Amino acid sequence: SKTYKIAVIPGDGTGPEVIREGVKVLNAVSNRIGFKLDYTYFDFGGERYLRTGETLPDSAIEELKKFDAIYLGAIGHPDVKPGILEKGILLRLRFELDQYVNLRPVKLYPGVDCPLKNKGPEDIDFVVVRENTEGLYTGSGGFLKKGTPDEVAIQVSINTRKGVERCIRYAFEYCKKRNKRKKLTLCGKTNVLTFAFDLWERTFYEVAKDYPDITTDYAHVDATTMWFVKNPEWFDVIVTDNMFGDIITDLGAMIQGGMGIAAGGNINPQGVSMFEPIGGSAPKYTGKNVINPLAAICAAGMMLENLGEETAGKLIERAVIEVTGKHLKSLAAGKMGYTTTEVGDLVAKYVTDLPLEG
Ligand code: IPM
Ligand code: MN
Repeated sequence: SKTYKIAVIPGDGTGPEVIREGVKVLNAVSNRIGFKLDYTYFDFGGERYLRTGETLPDSAIEELKKFDAIYLGAIGHPDVKPGILEKGILLRLRFELDQYVNLRPVKLYPGVDCPLKNKGPEDIDFVVVRENTEGLYTGSGGFLKKGTPDEVAIQVSINTRKGVERCIRYAFEYCKKRNKRKKLTLCGKTNVLTFAFDLWERTFYEVAKDYPDITTDYAHVDATTMWFVKNPEWFDVIVTDNMFGDIITDLGAMIQGGMGIAAGGNINPQGVSMFEPIGGSAPKYTGKNVINPLAAICAAGMMLENLGEETAGKLIERAVIEVTGKHLKSLAAGKMGYTTTEVGDLVAKYVTDLPLEG
């Protein structure tokens, strides 16, 4: 049977707790379906940085390229100045492994409390394709006259034709394969960011010519946040730049029930991709066995689908739906009615016991 080599980076805070449950579920599903997962653990994160002064050793990137996928818990430590670990680990991995798409499904599962009035699972089911290697995230810019009254801080958004086009093409392909409403929305700000989103818009409508079956749409980012709340059912797949994608997917996470269930994949279709819960390290809940592991478990499901194990990925999703629908009182940390470990056990049990489809 097939063996996949998985690099596991549990990371900081509650990262290790949720990754442990994710691995539990991965093991249950690989046993059930009949493939093998070979894990190698890496200790990158805040603790290692505080101990050694190193974020990622240079050898790490080359080493990680040898894996079939990376499974990441969380990066972020209360004792480390903001920016160091984010740039030194998470963003560096995304950039150097050229994971140019950040795929973030926004799906309300049955039984999950939604903060939107009169909206249910049939209304909230879309996917954000966030560009993941360019825009405001490249670190281009600097200060003029730093520390003086005339100081200027410049932060540049870099948008290359190639970078924008590959992301947009991915979104069209994804929308076609998803085969739901076959609608792709470009989310931008063409009325103000008249260079960056001019390029995005031109590229979007050029690529659209190759996809006559997909309906195209455009929404400004500010309006997008409004529609997420008012008419989330309008969306199927959304493509947007790095910064806007970052912002709207936090809102997306809230309308699907919270950070406890929001998962994402940093995808390099030709290389190694990395899957993570999008919620962060939650230092407040660390070590208490109360954090919700479902986001990490869903990220594991996305990882398997991306590896081509679609039945396994779907099985994890179906098991998660059983757990949200029949068991959990809430998705919030400490309010689930179960511990972190028990939620992992429940999902693993359903993965083992549910009838296989098809
Ligand atoms: C995310 C996070 C990161 C981002 C931070 C931690 C650098 O917010 O994955 O959405 O901005 O991309
Ligand atoms: Mn974010």
